[in-house]
Amino acid sequence: MTEQKNPCCTGSNPGFTELGAYIDALKIDPNDPERKEMLIMTLHKAQSIFGYLPAEVQQFVAKKFSIPHAAVSGVISFYNYFTTTPKGKTNISICMGTACYVNGSDKILQDFEKALGIKSGQVTADGRFSIESLRCVGACGLAPVVLINDHVYGKVKQGQAEKIIEEYLIEYGEPVEVE
Ligand code: FES
Repeated sequence: MTEQKNPCCTGSNPGFTELGAYIDALKIDPNDPERKEMLIMTLHKAQSIFGYLPAEVQQFVAKKFSIPHAAVSGVISFYNYFTTTPKGKTNISICMGTACYVNGSDKILQDFEKALGIKSGQVTADGRFSIESLRCVGACGLAPVVLINDHVYGKVKQGQAEKIIEEYLIEYGEPVEVE
């Protein structure tokens, strides 16, 4: 599997129509003290539509709000929830907090990278998998921890990555051999 090109904003994505309608319905008043809350709500909406917040989406929001792009990117970088990196349908997050790291999470990250042929921060060409690393997710007793979407895998051992990936491939109904 290879790295995926930006899947979000090439060509005319209907997501922009949906996002534009959402913002228009807010009837933004430049003097409204709640404008910042509206911006945060809008960014949540945008991320739910596109999966992440690339520059093109940020610029669209900035234009609609009549504010500089930097004001939008500042809010995005302030809140951990927002991401400017695309994710796959199945997002694999490996905890790199201290407890997980001392229990070998760096080796587990390498296992997933090798099995999928991508690096942390990348998405497979078919858009099904992405890998990222996180700081402590608050489950240190289960270190090392891997989160796959909302599912927590605890005490993950080296060599288990392929088996875990296969569970998801089977779920997709089209098992594919991993390396
Ligand atoms: S360090 Fe990984 S869950 Fe806390």
